[in-house]
Amino acid sequence: MAGPVRVTPEMEAFHQQVSKDGLEPLWMAAPEVMHRQPKSKAIPYIWKKEVIERHVKKAADIISFENGGDRRVLMLINPGMRDLEPYGWGATTQTLSVCVQILLPGEEAPPHRHTQTAIRYIVEGEGAYSGVDGEKVYMCEGDYVITPKGLWHEHEHEGTEPMMWMDCLDTPLIYYLHGTFFEGSPVKKQLITRKPSVDKYQGGMVRPLGDHQPSKAPLPVYRYNSTLASLKGLSDHYEPDPVEGYVVEYINPSNGHSANENIGAWLQKLPVGFHGKAHRHVNSVVYHIKEGKGYTLIDGVRFDWEKGDYLVVPTWAVHEHVNTSKTEEAILFSTNDIPIFEGLDLQRVEEYTENGGYQVEIGQFDPAETQELLKR
Ligand SMILES: [Fe+2]
Ligand SMILES: [Fe+2]
Repeated sequence: MAGPVRVTPEMEAFHQQVSKDGLEPLWMAAPEVMHRQPKSKAIPYIWKKEVIERHVKKAADIISFENGGDRRVLMLINPGMRDLEPYGWGATTQTLSVCVQILLPGEEAPPHRHTQTAIRYIVEGEGAYSGVDGEKVYMCEGDYVITPKGLWHEHEHEGTEPMMWMDCLDTPLIYYLHGTFFEGSPVKKQLITRKPSVDKYQGGMVRPLGDHQPSKAPLPVYRYNSTLASLKGLSDHYEPDPVEGYVVEYINPSNGHSANENIGAWLQKLPVGFHGKAHRHVNSVVYHIKEGKGYTLIDGVRFDWEKGDYLVVPTWAVHEHVNTSKTEEAILFSTNDIPIFEGLDLQRVEEYTENGGYQVEIGQFDPAETQELLKR
């Protein structure tokens, strides 16, 4: 393999000349633009429940739909992506934009559609519905809801207490690809044309004949209790995976693929005292801690988490999960960009083989350090 380029004064002058004419020498650029392995611009980071909820609730106090805007949402911008203009492209990782949304009783967030794929994970409350492709999809805590790209969707809160949920869209990817289309609806509410799809799928592993042909959202909502029951079935009768514990992925029952096209989602259980082995992968992941307490070691740094926190594991970062409770299971909801990387045939997963498969802890995440990053 050739070593570093030895730049002569003549070459240096040439590099400056070509640069003025919109050209750059690949022999100089290659090590930086064609790395030997993935290099993430997003960094590992955690948003604590208290911080998110404080700001989201304040937003509910001072921002109304009468002021304009389609949604009352705060985006979780990765400190490593903040220099992207505008608005850090909304990036929590290089592909995923995780947000937290609050809707108050009686409020209506108007219909729109866009080329970004969206998912929701309900963090708190009940009584609101999303209109998705002509269906009223009522949402409760722990439910997973999809809004595939191009489908009209709106939200209305018919309940009595504020509702909060996590959104995840592939905004940074679509922005980078220049593939953004966004359309507001001329009508205040979309026409409800479909009955609740959960009633069609009560049998579990059977598919109604009418859904024999694949479609984007045959089942827009995945109820928490059903998903939890499938995890219980695994944990009652099977040994945990040494890395992940127990995991189920949300799938589209009409084609068996990821429930949403570009964004994967998992519900995961770490049994009491579980300490997973480390690994890394090309895809990035954002976790929402649904229940429990523990920590994740990311490239040797310990990120302690508990119910309500949001944690980013960037591309190719070595990570392992630990449930520190002696009595409670930990339940993690996560979104990932596996469908994107698999679709491009770029996905790789690598086990960590040093030290018996477990990292050595080299430090703890210190929010004060990232405060410096956030000031930039
Ligand atoms: Fe939307
Ligand atoms: Fe992982």
